Amino acid sequence: MLFAILKIIHMFALYVGGAAGIGNGLLTAKVMKADQPPPPYVGQVMGMIGKMGFVAIVLLWLTGIAMVAMTGGWAALNWAFWVKLVGATLVLAAASMMTLIGIKAEKAGVPPDLKKIKSISRLAHVGLPLAVIFAVIAFAP
Ligand code: HEM
Repeated sequence: MLFAILKIIHMFALYVGGAAGIGNGLLTAKVMKADQPPPPYVGQVMGMIGKMGFVAIVLLWLTGIAMVAMTGGWAALNWAFWVKLVGATLVLAAASMMTLIGIKAEKAGVPPDLKKIKSISRLAHVGLPLAVIFAVIAFAP
């Protein structure tokens, strides 16, 4: 039962993290195209979506590590799992850097560097499909 609960949280976290990535990606593209500072509420919502996405990625890791511990440990995992983990690491790295940029900008009272955020987001664009595709391959019967 505990395993099922962990996996349900894993799947919800994937949903929230993916939605946050798409939502903020679209907003970032629109704001950059507009070439003027967005209304404050748009910036606030982008910050909130970013934090939700980061929490979701952390939850993916916590629940993932717990599930591995419950199912025979790291040695029992196949090659596809390790490819998935490379993808998950790219996503975690990208989300951490983007969250840090957002928090630093918020503290300094300036808008975040969207160009930097956009280029970092490419890591997640590679990592997320790797993590999803190879998770399915790794755990296929
Ligand atoms: C961006 C990060 C991640 C994504 C997108 C992701 C995605 C997925 C998906 C789609 C599944 C379902 C696969 C299936 O049942 O066919 C899954 C299962 C699983 N994931 Fe992740 N995952 C991520 C991070 C992690 C991490 C960091 C770990 C471990 C350190 C992990 C461990 C697991 C385990 C053990 C299962 C299988 C549960 C089972 O046996 O049914 N995941 N993941």
